[in-house]
Amino acid sequence: MQALNTSVKVAVIGAGAMGSGIAQVAAQAGHLVYLQDQREGAAAAGKAGVAKTLQKRVDSGKMQQRDLDALLQRIQPVDSLEQLADSGLVIEAIIEDLDIKRQLFARLEDLCGEQVILATNTSSISVTSLGAQLKRPERLLGMHFFNPAPLMALVEVILGLATDKQLAAVIHATAAAWGKKPVFATSTPGFIVNRVARPFYAESLRLMQEQAADPATLDALLREAGNFRMGPFELMDLIGHDVNYAVTNSVFDAYYGDFRFQPSLIQKALVEAGRLGRKTGQGFYSYAEGATRPEAATLPPAQARDNQVIIEGELGAAAGLIQRFADAGLQIIQRDGAGLIRYGDATLALTDGRMATERTISDGLQQLVLFDLAFDYSKATRLAIAAARQTTDSALQDAIALLQKAGLAVSQLSDAPGLAVMRTLAMLTNEAADAVLQGVASASDVDLAMCAGVNYPQGPLSWSERLGHGVIWRVLQNLQTSYGEDRYRPSLLLRQQAFTAGQQPDSNKKPGAG
Ligand SMILES: NC(=O)c1ccc[n+]([C@@H]2O[C@H](COP(=O)([O-])OP(=O)(O)OC[C@H]3O[C@@H](n4cnc5c(N)ncnc54)[C@H](O)[C@@H]3O)[C@@H](O)[C@H]2O)c1
Repeated sequence: MQALNTSVKVAVIGAGAMGSGIAQVAAQAGHLVYLQDQREGAAAAGKAGVAKTLQKRVDSGKMQQRDLDALLQRIQPVDSLEQLADSGLVIEAIIEDLDIKRQLFARLEDLCGEQVILATNTSSISVTSLGAQLKRPERLLGMHFFNPAPLMALVEVILGLATDKQLAAVIHATAAAWGKKPVFATSTPGFIVNRVARPFYAESLRLMQEQAADPATLDALLREAGNFRMGPFELMDLIGHDVNYAVTNSVFDAYYGDFRFQPSLIQKALVEAGRLGRKTGQGFYSYAEGATRPEAATLPPAQARDNQVIIEGELGAAAGLIQRFADAGLQIIQRDGAGLIRYGDATLALTDGRMATERTISDGLQQLVLFDLAFDYSKATRLAIAAARQTTDSALQDAIALLQKAGLAVSQLSDAPGLAVMRTLAMLTNEAADAVLQGVASASDVDLAMCAGVNYPQGPLSWSERLGHGVIWRVLQNLQTSYGEDRYRPSLLLRQQAFTAGQQPDSNKKPGAG
């Protein structure tokens, strides 16, 4: 499908954080852009903000002054909506209010020609509902940019019930021509990113609430083992707890109180206390002058008592550890088995969503220490472990010594089912799978959205696939059993995939195997 020609004039309404950024993106792509805001002087201020940001690029030699001048010529602040009448595409980025946005679109429909395309940058309002009272609801769609719009690659192209698919394809192509990574999504609560990302915060909040670990440790694990750019607590502090909590609440309510999206009492308390994060100087961390960030809990060096490690069976996702053991000078002995690592007195296994204490009994594994998922075991710098209640201290010390010998900082969590990274990935994947199952977006678009919109190291669906057949489904099943909660029910899509290829996936006897 052809993108809109750059001769098409684009109007951006609302010159706040998002509108100014969107105006910059469209002008950079070569369109003439009208920028309108109901607040006097706001459109001019929005343009001045763009000029100031881009001047820095000129000053550092990354942009030519004449290109900046030409770009700024293409952004025209206007006072009234009447002045946008000859626009071919209007993108609104005004206040997040259904009635006010509806009134705006109704006026635009009258002011602009029948061929105008109307787009909303809403984060949370239904596109279907915004279009409901329009004469031509098929010409309205969502064009959801991420903040800051000039820097973030993702644009979710949202189709309401009435949206014309051809028109959505034109906007998809246009966003791509503007240098963005567009994805299609149907108008459902949270669209893709704001829905699928919920567990990234929720599971860590839960682990903290259950005293499995403190925020600094969980942040370090998600960064250093999970390869996420920021940990959940530091990210919530950056976003602002008022904003993050409001998004979670709106998605929770919109899905009729589905417990998968249940907001956290810990975050509620921060909002009530006015500890909104960086912007108020205090969130999970303090941002006061001279405040230092607490360090992640890291176990002190343990004494390595053995120079051989036994690998029983396939380690599946964790196979990258073997090379690290070899590089550390350990003798590797491979034999048949159920995906276990034996070192000294300890038996180590990748978490499968059960507690170590339970697995000691169910699988008859003595001196069990579970370890967490890492995005790439050959490169991870930190790994979480959890010991069974029955595990002796000397076996625990053996497990710690082995992982430290392989160059890993080791953080011990309480015996939390699924540990931190595996549990987070499992729930992200579950949400992504349900979004695909329900036709919200394709699997490739969900994965792309999570990478381009929130910088995930890999899309959750392809990351989970990489772990091997049925691994995530089994983790979720075990989490559901552990908690006895509907929150962890596996998506039907994951169940279908687990039972594909004629394999019987529900064996809990192959802990680390793919
Ligand atoms: N801030 C984000 O991270 C983010 C990300 C994606 C989408 N959004 C969505 O983008 C929209 C704008 O968000 P923002 O963060 O830029 O808000 P903002 O408060 O920074 O800017 C909104 C601007 O719209 C103007 N405005 C309000 N009502 C208007 C009207 N009727 N006509 C013309 N101008 C009007 C305001 O004067 C203000 O300048 C919202 O729908 C929001 O949900 C925000």
